[in-house]
Amino acid sequence: MTLVSEGGVALVTGASSGIGEAFARALARRKVRLVLVARSREKLEALSRELAAVSGKEASVLALDLSRRDAPARLYSETEGRGLAVDLLVNNAGFGLNAPFDETPLERILEMLDLNIAALTALTRLFLAPMKARGRGSILNVASTASFVAGPYFAAYSASKAYVRSFSHALHHEARPHGVTVTALCPGYTNTNFNVVAGMKRGAGGLLPRQDAGRVAEIGLSALERRKPVRITNPLDFLWIFSLRIAPAWLPPVLAAALFRYAREKQEKA
Ligand SMILES: NC(=O)c1ccc[n+]([C@@H]2O[C@H](COP(=O)([O-])OP(=O)(O)OC[C@H]3O[C@@H](n4cnc5c(N)ncnc54)[C@H](OP(=O)(O)O)[C@@H]3O)[C@@H](O)[C@H]2O)c1
Repeated sequence: MTLVSEGGVALVTGASSGIGEAFARALARRKVRLVLVARSREKLEALSRELAAVSGKEASVLALDLSRRDAPARLYSETEGRGLAVDLLVNNAGFGLNAPFDETPLERILEMLDLNIAALTALTRLFLAPMKARGRGSILNVASTASFVAGPYFAAYSASKAYVRSFSHALHHEARPHGVTVTALCPGYTNTNFNVVAGMKRGAGGLLPRQDAGRVAEIGLSALERRKPVRITNPLDFLWIFSLRIAPAWLPPVLAAALFRYAREKQEKA
C-alpha cells in the first residue's frame, strides 16, 4: 500500500527528536512531503532543511504546544489553509512521568494527559474525516508496551498509553471499510530523550530490551502498509506481552513495581 498519494503530505507530531524525528527521516527517504510539528521551532527548521536535500521536497514546519487545548484545531486549520492534504498522520508527540504519583506535580500530570490523550484524540478526529471523504489515508498512533501493564511509578503514563492502544484498535475497525487504516504502535524501551524527560532512573532502563528509534519508525511504517491494528516493535517485548495471557492478572503490576522500586533505590544509594 502506498502511504502518501502524489500531492499528499505526511504530518508527524513530535518530529524534533527521537521516534518522531526517525519517522520524518524514514518518510523523507521515501520522497514524501512532510509537515513537521513540535514546540522546538529551530530544531524543526534545521531538520526540514536537512530532509529537503534527501526528499527533494520542502517540509513545512509548525511550531506548536500540542498540550494546549486549542492547538489541534489550529494545526488542522493551518494545514487546510495551506491546501495540504494530510494522507498520513503520525501522532507521536508524548512524554512519560516516572515517579511516585503523589510526588508528581499535578500540572505536569495534566499536561501529559492533554498531550498523550486529548491532542492525539482531537487530531485523529480532525484528520480522519477528510481521509474518509477521500477514501484513503493512514493514522499511526504511538502507544507503548507500557499500555499492556498497569505500571506502578508510571501509573498515569501507562494508563494514557492503554487509552491510545484501545482507542486506535477500535478505530481501526471503524475506519478500515472506508479505505483508512489506523495502527497503534507499541514500542518498548527506545533510545531517545524519553527517559530524561520522564525522570527515569538509569537502573530500570538497563534491565529492559532496547531498540533504536530508526528501527521503530521502519516497523511502524511497515505495520501501516500491512494494515495492522496493533504492532509491538520489539520481538523480545512480544515474548513477555504474550506471556501475560497465561500469567495471573495480579502478577505483572507486582513485578513492574518491584523493578521500578529497585531502580529508584539503586539510584538513591549511588
Ligand atoms: N522512548 C521510549 O522508550 C518510548 C517507548 C514507548 C513509547 N514511546 C512514545 O514515543 C513517543 C515519542 O517519544 P520519544 O521516545 O521519541 O521521546 P522524545 O525524544 O522526548 O521526543 C518527544 C517528542 O515530542 C515532542 N513534544 C513533547 N511535548 C510536546 C508538546 N507539548 N507539544 C508538541 N510536541 C511535544 C518533543 O518536541 P519538543 O520538545 O520540541 O516539543 C519531541 O519531538 C511518545 O509518545 C512516547 O510516549 C517512547
